[in-house]
Amino acid sequence: MSILDVEAFPIEVQEARLQINRQLDQYTRFDTDNVKDSCPEQLQEAIRYSLLSDGKRLRPLLVLAAAHVCGGDMQDAMGAACAVEMIHTYSLIHDDLPAMDDDDLRRGQPTCHVQFDEATAILAGDALLTMAFEVMARDTPQPVAAHCCQLLATAAGPTRLVGGQVEDLAAQFTEPNLTHLQRIHSRKTGALLTVALELGGVISGGTAQMLKSLQQYGNDIGLAFQIVDDLLDLRGEEVKIGKRTGKDSEHGKLTYPLVMGSQDSEQLARDKVDSAISALQVFGPAADPLVLFANFVVNRTR
Ligand code: IPE
Ligand code: IPE
Ligand code: MG
Ligand code: MG
Ligand code: MG
Repeated sequence: MSILDVEAFPIEVQEARLQINRQLDQYTRFDTDNVKDSCPEQLQEAIRYSLLSDGKRLRPLLVLAAAHVCGGDMQDAMGAACAVEMIHTYSLIHDDLPAMDDDDLRRGQPTCHVQFDEATAILAGDALLTMAFEVMARDTPQPVAAHCCQLLATAAGPTRLVGGQVEDLAAQFTEPNLTHLQRIHSRKTGALLTVALELGGVISGGTAQMLKSLQQYGNDIGLAFQIVDDLLDLRGEEVKIGKRTGKDSEHGKLTYPLVMGSQDSEQLARDKVDSAISALQVFGPAADPLVLFANFVVNRTR
């Protein structure tokens, strides 16, 4: 197995990924003796179906790695890590809806609205979005909890992730334009990846210089990540990436390969990853996991 596969990450990273999965499982059990306060069965099933499926968990791993590199205890950042993954999963459930990208395969299984129904998928997304802030507010060290909620809300909100999704849809079948494309990618994908790093840094009390380096790294890998996502849609293998391919051109999406061709897109992603890695110098060897993730972003096959 190649080192570029999540399953072949070093043992500590795999352990962190397992911990994230266990914590997400715990957060969605909704154990209560009181029927009145219980989560409706089908809603719980849909939430767990999407959240506990085979995601790479890159964003929560970035939260933990940023917490580590800034000298803090990764356990303090576990709530924030799970909150970010909840937002990410909600955004995927909604992204796949017929009114948006209309996809039927996600993480190697039928999309939420196909497995259940549209209303359940919309509501499972709503529930995950809401729960993220419950988890963040309750399970993040209290002195920074409110600030972290605000950072995550801004990144996930109308000027960042949701704004980017709106622009992505509006740009379908429009004239290719690089500035416009970069803006869409930085919002719909870059925002959540960047805030994941910022949250880890803030929870660990990182200095202004550390946070600045993390932001530079996040901006670069954020763009590289979505460029590679565009490339995988074009030439990836459905069984490996666990989603349909060829959808972007079918929907007239504004993508990097469309605007600058595959080769230049790949080169740009590689340049961004080099730049991301050079932003980590301030941290020394403690940044090794972040270097690994940057290389994974550009060499991944899923
Ligand atoms: C897919 O994200 C959506 C994009 C922002 C491109 P990932 O490729 O991280 O999806 P999972 O979490 O591994 O399924
Ligand atoms: C998704 O971008 C971005 C968000 C979900 C916020 P895409 O639409 O390119 O993601 P995939 O390819 O469906 O995973
Ligand atoms: Mg989309
Ligand atoms: Mg999509
Ligand atoms: Mg895509």
